[in-house]
Amino acid sequence: MPVQGLGRGFWLGAATALSVLGAIAAYAATPDEVIAERRAGYKHMGEVFKAMKAGVESGADVAQFATGAGDIVAWATKIPTMFPPGTETGGGTHALPAVWSDRPGFDKLAGQLRTEAGKLQTVAATGDKAAFVAQFKATGAVCGECHRTYRAKL
Ligand code: HEC
Repeated sequence: MPVQGLGRGFWLGAATALSVLGAIAAYAATPDEVIAERRAGYKHMGEVFKAMKAGVESGADVAQFATGAGDIVAWATKIPTMFPPGTETGGGTHALPAVWSDRPGFDKLAGQLRTEAGKLQTVAATGDKAAFVAQFKATGAVCGECHRTYRAKL
């Protein structure tokens, strides 16, 4: 895979470019648009996760979930840019004030999600079901941890 030949510098550069793009997109949009976009991003992640859970329970081939795990990696990278000032309320948001009062903690969990979802993507591609289930749980734990502190009950 040529992708694996790309150095750490490339990926750091790509990640930085992505966050900058995300920040520009966030600030060019109205607060309601940003909130709608972030809710849609989370909703998609929820659907990906639900499909994975159903697949695990039915013993499906887990290789098909590599793409969905990649979506979670991409979204996790974007999360820190999706909570600009002015989007604390409105638009049906469930984000708690802690997102803004404890941004380092929030961003850290977004980074952890990216790490765990990256491992999930790798393990899915191997088709190893037991390893996938274990990593699926590790990834889900980060979702739960962030929601406990930073998201109101849906
Ligand atoms: C870094 C913190 C964080 C992580 C990690 C995180 N979430 Fe969330 N999630 C939030 C916040 C904050 C909201 C509320 C966003 C809003 O309403 O503006 C949310 C909202 C949601 C929603 C509701 C979207 C809607 O319809 O409004 C779903 C579903 C969801 N998350 C699923 C997940 C799943 C699945 C994962 C793990 C794969 C995950 N989240 C990981 C913070 C997080």
